[in-house]
Amino acid sequence: MRLFLDTANIDDIRRCAAMGVVSGVTTNPTLLAKEGVEYRDRILEICEVVDGPISAEGVALTADELVEEGRRIASWHESVVVKVAMTEPGLEAISRLAAEGISTNCTLIFSANQVLLAARAGATFVSPFVGRLDDGGQDGMEMVREAVQILETFHLPAQVLAASLRHTRHVTEAALAGAHVATVPPAVLLQMVKHPLTDAGIERFLADSTNYSAV
Ligand code: E4P
Repeated sequence: MRLFLDTANIDDIRRCAAMGVVSGVTTNPTLLAKEGVEYRDRILEICEVVDGPISAEGVALTADELVEEGRRIASWHESVVVKVAMTEPGLEAISRLAAEGISTNCTLIFSANQVLLAARAGATFVSPFVGRLDDGGQDGMEMVREAVQILETFHLPAQVLAASLRHTRHVTEAALAGAHVATVPPAVLLQMVKHPLTDAGIERFLADSTNYSAV
């Protein structure tokens, strides 16, 4: 499973990318709004830091407008993937953009049927939102498991991008479910690095290394 960062914060992206574990980035209008920067400028900055798919979201509401917006967003940089919400015009836009060779990420997916539709329309990535379903008392990860099974059964090339992940256990479960990608907030990725026994082990080794010379 590849790890994408779910943020538009360039400092967090630089810090996490330096560890060599980040294969892409997802953004959305909410994440961008927190940064107070121009959308295109920030996407281009991110493309300079991370060599991989960078999702940038369209906000138009009709298929024609979404296609036009998608073409414009895709022209910013070869790494850009156009994020399109799961709606009827969104599916039409995804299929028309796919026919032009433009990569898309179908977002705001909350059911396995929506996964099937997005994959059939030609989405490159399908993004089931785990945390938001969990918030409503459902099992969001079950949707990821179903998504992986459906795409594998019918040999559909779309990749399952587990989204709306809120904690480290979500990441493990997405990997066990066979998700191709998990997009992870920086705080969760940094938490994945840590374990109290690692810290205790380092402390002990440091305390015991008084007569130790590594060189
Ligand atoms: C990523 O593509 C999504 O926009 C993001 O994971 C949503 O996460 P949230 O439900 O925590 O806002």
